[in-house]
Amino acid sequence: MTEKTFSIIKPDAVEGNFIGKIVGRFEEEGLKIAAMEMRHLARHEAEGFYAEHKARPFFGELCDFMTRSPVVLMVLEGKDAIAKNRKIMGATNPANADAGTIRKLFSKSVGENSVHGSDSPEAAAREIAYFFRGISVYSKK
Ligand code: CMP
Repeated sequence: MTEKTFSIIKPDAVEGNFIGKIVGRFEEEGLKIAAMEMRHLARHEAEGFYAEHKARPFFGELCDFMTRSPVVLMVLEGKDAIAKNRKIMGATNPANADAGTIRKLFSKSVGENSVHGSDSPEAAAREIAYFFRGISVYSKK
């Protein structure tokens, strides 16, 4: 099924100069960049985006990290985009990520893991709407 998902290239990957390589991996795997914006998140945006993790001990650290440098916000589109994106990213903890995945190639730790990707159609719809107005989560194709 053609669908859309939401992706963030996180501050560690922007600082490491890996934007092009990461976007290239998505394109090589057949995902299209349907929307893209690079900017420095405000604290309230990071807190709102990760609100489901508010009670976790790493929440403050996560929001500090996500506002440390600019990020690249993207909508990716393609066949089975949600699952495909998660496969290309690799496991949340880079120590457990498969060879060749973005997190295996570029990430230092579970906290600084280079990319975010929606984990379900519901999350994709919510996350796309959080950052991009006027983008339908449904595809015409
Ligand atoms: P992400 O997929 O963006 O969603 C939530 C994020 O919380 C996750 O990636 C990690 O970067 C971060 N995270 C998860 N577990 C930990 C942890 N134990 N310590 C710090 N950050 C974490």
